[in-house]
Amino acid sequence: MKPEDFSVLPAHVGVIMDGNGRWAKQRGLPRSSGHIEGAKNFRRIGEYAGDLGIKHISFYAFSTENWSRPQQEVAAIMDLFGDYLEEARERLDENLEKGIRLRFLGDKSRIDPRLVKLMDFVEDATKEMTKVNLNIAVNYGGQQEILHSVQQLAKKAAAGEIAPSDITLEDIESGLYTAGQPPVDLVIRPSGEQRLSNFLLWQSAYAEFWYSDVLWPDFSTDDFDQALLAFEKRNRRFGGV
Ligand code: IPE
Ligand code: IPE
Ligand code: MG
Repeated sequence: MKPEDFSVLPAHVGVIMDGNGRWAKQRGLPRSSGHIEGAKNFRRIGEYAGDLGIKHISFYAFSTENWSRPQQEVAAIMDLFGDYLEEARERLDENLEKGIRLRFLGDKSRIDPRLVKLMDFVEDATKEMTKVNLNIAVNYGGQQEILHSVQQLAKKAAAGEIAPSDITLEDIESGLYTAGQPPVDLVIRPSGEQRLSNFLLWQSAYAEFWYSDVLWPDFSTDDFDQALLAFEKRNRRFGGV
């Protein structure tokens, strides 16, 4: 569909890219094949969302809990992430032309320093871009993110820089990885699961949820359209009447 086909677009979409493993299993392939297809689809849907004019989109790529998977699977996912980062560096001009700002949500301290270097490079190189804000959540946990923000504030309070009773919601918000970005309006989760799995907890306080049984590698631009069309029809009240 085209941007003008929608009466309203969410300011910020969150996508939980789930179902890669089951996609591979259905085909008798190793789980890593599912992640390869999932990574391809991330590129497709990310590009499509940008073309539609979605200004902020966050993709959940790897959670803080995903480290508990077999080491081989974790390594395969990190390799794919590395490939994507290399590509982002090589195609930097393309991203700049499209006005894409790339950011990574999550704790970088547990990620391979070689990847962190690339992450920092593309974040810095695209930081002036304003057309599309593409966030990729890697080693991301919503609870850990809130904890981190609160710890920073606690340090300030302990140093006497702020009074605990003066701490505001905005103070907590400004310590999140998404600081300055709008709250999530729509969370999309394919693969039949209906849970947040620690994704953007704070940011999704008033998000609309859209679920689908399609597995992430098969999740198409038509499915994305369906989610946006469903969002248009939602009656958002934010606690009002
Ligand atoms: C999502 O697909 C990718 C990551 C969590 C990294 P899964 O690997 O969780 O796929 P399923 O849920 O096992 O099918
Ligand atoms: C959520 O999927 C994390 C990502 C998609 C990166 P999981 O497959 O890890 O979630 P659970 O375990 O089903 O809740
Ligand atoms: Mg899963």
